[in-house]
Amino acid sequence: MKDVITLGIESSCDETSVAVVKNGREILSNIIDTQIPIHEKYGGVVPEIASRNHIEAISRVTKKALEEAQISWDDIDAITPTYGPGLVGALLVGLSYAKALSFALDKPLVGVNHIQGHIAANYISYPELEPPFLCMMMSGGNTQIVYVKTYTEFELLGKTRDDAIGEAFDKVARVVGLGYPGGPKVDNLAKQGNPIYELPQTYFDNLDFSFSGIKTAVINLHHKMPDINKADLCASFEKAVTEEVVKNIKRAIKKVNVNTVVLAGGVSANSFIRKAFLELENEKIKVYMPDLKLCTDNAAMIASAGYYQFISGKRDNMQLNAIPNLSLT
Ligand code: KG4
Repeated sequence: MKDVITLGIESSCDETSVAVVKNGREILSNIIDTQIPIHEKYGGVVPEIASRNHIEAISRVTKKALEEAQISWDDIDAITPTYGPGLVGALLVGLSYAKALSFALDKPLVGVNHIQGHIAANYISYPELEPPFLCMMMSGGNTQIVYVKTYTEFELLGKTRDDAIGEAFDKVARVVGLGYPGGPKVDNLAKQGNPIYELPQTYFDNLDFSFSGIKTAVINLHHKMPDINKADLCASFEKAVTEEVVKNIKRAIKKVNVNTVVLAGGVSANSFIRKAFLELENEKIKVYMPDLKLCTDNAAMIASAGYYQFISGKRDNMQLNAIPNLSLT
């Protein structure tokens, strides 16, 4: 069978990324131009600045992706951009660029859901992985438990009712004075502390999450005790959020009776959460975690998800629009 080459384009937040992927699993190139240093001084992503930087970067990054993959435009079978969820102005840059390429090259356009992209990062890291499985999706904008039934069929089992888990990490980091992006900084500092502070837990009838109570408790402790040991505070936060996530994934495993769990999204780089999930293997659960470099936003995962949509027959046209709150199903 002929190889299928997808060109992934990702611009939903603060990374401009273009990748060339073969048969949904093999990365030929994955160029990531991050804007983190630009947004760092504002303590978070400034949407308008993100859009402008995507415009500046997109052609350069695409050219580099083709060069590194050693392919020409002719070799591409489908153009697969992220069209949501994300920042609307940022999404529009990648999507418009993809539409222009699709039109000029007369190649199929297949819009990709960013969350499906995060899930697909695991297909690249693990060639043997196939649905069905459960996915614990944790990023800066989303926290969801997804039942991945097939490569293109998904069921949302639970989601956050307030903050996304990454958002809670970033807010805690900001209040504690660690800067942006907060997740990796909280992760590192927590390793030097002890989880001595009791933080609130939540329990819902369904598989939803809430992180704002834990976050607010951390912020209140910091306000009440300005000299508090920050490492202990971060360790306590890590313990509380890890317990929330593990508790719900265990309930999800029981609910759908599937014994394969994968992590996805930027927060799956978290060392405490990774360790806790690996411990599930003692309970005969098979756990997959994407390579650290594929956890955060990148276009290879988008090209992989795009491949599965493409071979299942999905095609979009020039009417495809950016959808900032695009849902998974
Ligand atoms: O998936 P991602 O790159 O972007 C979104 O689509 O949101 O996730 C970014 C989020 C940020 O909130 C960042 O602080 C968090 O992932 N993150 C981490 C770690 N590395 C990145 N959170 C906790 N621990 C980490 N090691």
